[in-house]
Amino acid sequence: MTKSLLFVANWKMSMPFHAACSFVQDNKHELEKLAAPTGTTIVLCPSFVALDALVKMVHNMSIYIGAQNCSDHLAGAFTGEVDAQSLQQINCSYCIIGHSERRSLFRETSEEVAQKAKFLLEHTIIPIICIGETKEQYEAQQTFDILEKQLAPVWQVIDQPTNVVIAYEPVWSIGTGIIPEKEYLQKIFDWLSKQCSQYLSKMIVQLIYGGSVDQNNAKDLAQIAKMDGFLIGGASLDFQKFKNIVLLSR
Ligand code: PGA
Repeated sequence: MTKSLLFVANWKMSMPFHAACSFVQDNKHELEKLAAPTGTTIVLCPSFVALDALVKMVHNMSIYIGAQNCSDHLAGAFTGEVDAQSLQQINCSYCIIGHSERRSLFRETSEEVAQKAKFLLEHTIIPIICIGETKEQYEAQQTFDILEKQLAPVWQVIDQPTNVVIAYEPVWSIGTGIIPEKEYLQKIFDWLSKQCSQYLSKMIVQLIYGGSVDQNNAKDLAQIAKMDGFLIGGASLDFQKFKNIVLLSR
């Protein structure tokens, strides 16, 4: 049986508004074809500014739009923040939270990430919860401890049956071209899958991998059991590369 695969394009701050619109406009038919087979889900995550425009552009297509972050507060005096309710009102379907860049550059804690997951789920947005260890933690063989700590607050807040995505992204793999050994990744996904059956038994959980995914490694990585897709940064900025990743993975 072919497995269902989720492909999330994380454009970070590397795709300005016009480029994000052109990505969809120029590749509309190809995107539609890519997402057509059952079992392939494509999610594009532009900056906040481009969300509304892209949601409107993909209307009637089976392409989904996701945000790259949201506030851990519902509303109020939080200048510069964007709330889950606003994302819901513009029909945003997914939201990346807890990306390692947000954890390290913006000092986000796992408790805040869990709070964001809670508010997103309350607003029917699927959270893409990012977790992963740093190079130092990997070298000190602390990966499972770190993942456990990052996930513990998440288990506390998710209590209704719903959809959740967990993205395992080793920090030392993001943007570096370095991919963990397949055996290592298999251990992680086996472990994650067990954790999810223990804590999220009522949820539909998809486990994806992120970190230097490109057209040269996608086919091989897609063989990992219990892994349901990819979170793609750099390679998702180029439509041909993104398309090849999707085609090679299934
Ligand atoms: P990368 O980024 O594919 O450029 O390594 C992945 C991510 O940060 O989500």
